[in-house]
Amino acid sequence: MSNVIVTGFMGTGKTAVGQEVARRLGRPFMDMDAEIEARAGKSIPRIFAEDGEGAFRQMEAALCEELSAQQGLVIATGGGALVDPTNRALMMRSGTVVCLTCDVDEILRRVNKADNFDRPLLDVADPRAEIERLLEARRDYAAIPWQIDTTGLPVEEVAERVVALADVITLPVRYPGGRYEIHVGDGLLAHVGGALRAAGAHEGSRVAVVSNPVVAPLYGAQVEAALRSAGFRPLACSIPDGGQHKTLATVATLYDQFLAGGLDRSGTVLSLGGGVTGDVAGFAAATFMRGVRFVQVPTTLLAMVDASVGGKTGVDLPQGKNLAGAFKQPALVIIDPTVLATLPAEEIRSGIAEVIKHGVIGDSNLFVELTQVANRQLSKSHIVRALRVKTAVVEEDPYERGRRTVLNLGHTVGHALERLSSFALRHGEAVSIGMVAAARIAGELGRADPRLADRIEALLTAWGLPVRCSPFDADAIWEAMAHDKKRQGRSLRWVLPRAIGQVEIAEDVPQETV
Ligand SMILES: NC(=O)c1ccc[n+]([C@@H]2O[C@H](COP(=O)([O-])OP(=O)(O)OC[C@H]3O[C@@H](n4cnc5c(N)ncnc54)[C@H](O)[C@@H]3O)[C@@H](O)[C@H]2O)c1
Ligand SMILES: [Zn+2]
Repeated sequence: MSNVIVTGFMGTGKTAVGQEVARRLGRPFMDMDAEIEARAGKSIPRIFAEDGEGAFRQMEAALCEELSAQQGLVIATGGGALVDPTNRALMMRSGTVVCLTCDVDEILRRVNKADNFDRPLLDVADPRAEIERLLEARRDYAAIPWQIDTTGLPVEEVAERVVALADVITLPVRYPGGRYEIHVGDGLLAHVGGALRAAGAHEGSRVAVVSNPVVAPLYGAQVEAALRSAGFRPLACSIPDGGQHKTLATVATLYDQFLAGGLDRSGTVLSLGGGVTGDVAGFAAATFMRGVRFVQVPTTLLAMVDASVGGKTGVDLPQGKNLAGAFKQPALVIIDPTVLATLPAEEIRSGIAEVIKHGVIGDSNLFVELTQVANRQLSKSHIVRALRVKTAVVEEDPYERGRRTVLNLGHTVGHALERLSSFALRHGEAVSIGMVAAARIAGELGRADPRLADRIEALLTAWGLPVRCSPFDADAIWEAMAHDKKRQGRSLRWVLPRAIGQVEIAEDVPQETV
């Protein structure tokens, strides 16, 4: 169990909040300053006076090292403890670090109320100027993604937010030349700003929030407020809703909005929406001024577990889907599953098909768990597990030259069915049918247990997905597949499941079998 570490400036309530967090989580609490005093056998002002600040900082560093090697603690650090990058890195590796902030007036009020003799750093003629100077020196705290402004908040409320942040799951994704983090947690929309600062965007820079008329009224204000409170200047940008607008013309309207709003190369494009918004905004971010920072805040299940990760962005051309695009790795992905509450049921269902697909490709436990879920209630842990399958595959094959093909399980038949139905079948529904077809083919060819297809079919059905493609005849489907841009040479590429959690790529599937 990882630690929960509460840090921040003096007067932000680290100790009181830490104690309350420990009480709520039923975990041991450690106050670093108190521990240092106990070990030294004297107060911090005396350590400062008799041994100097250097000696105190050494004790602090030693304690950081010791505590970060332990687990399950709630730790309140000293106000300056994590300014040191080594201390900060140790603590961030050992658990969730939350930085409490507060406005200067309230800090002054709070420390004036408390016993000032305890605050050697404020034992000066002009405490306000000193606080401002110290705050400036602690700008590096911006490297901590989770910041809570405690101004005007009671301890209980701050503790509740810390506890929620302790639940966040972070997945690192590596790609050639860099890495980024995917954070998954309830309520994370409120932390987009802090996370973006930690991902390297500068205070005061522009952030173009690209959304659409469905999603912006629901979540736009919250995201913009979070950006503003972290010191960014948000710029609301809009694209029309619907896959038919995933076009170059829409990208051009974004360039116009970026230029009119003063986005420059130091700026960031943030996608707030489903896969369509992510693909369009990502392509615009990849090309605007030869590329600006890009952040994904996916709001559909499909975008959370699939489209927002892996760096593929692009638009459709009149000749076909996704024909123009770029690899654009995000600097950050923020997933707040609470936004799924407003997503229509049929969109959830479509996303579930990809979650199940990820189970079949690489996580048999996920598959089994999904068979045991009551009332079709997906949890955060399902989203995380599905994501792990996708991140593992894209890390191995960042530019889609080989292994990444496995993500197309169910898509060979699926794409053909989408086209034949003139897109009346949703993507997820088509993939669902396609997965069952692939499993039947694998069974037919003796490459998988024939009961595998039944298991996959049963799970898809339980989640309300279709599994048969009766209205179309087999020859038409074969013809449509032959047009698929994913074909290689003369033979179609198939992704066939061998068992739950294991797939292979095959090119030698005879038409008769299909
Ligand atoms: N880049 C990739 O790797 C990748 C992978 C898979 C799919 N895709 C692309 O993703 C697109 C499909 O994405 P999608 O399924 O998310 O569709 P979408 O973006 O069109 O979203 C579906 C609908 O839900 C609405 N919506 C989004 N979030 C909502 C919320 N929280 N509450 C209420 N309504 C909400 C949208 O406005 C839209 O009307 C396709 O264009 C596909 O090509 C890309
Ligand atoms: Zn898909």
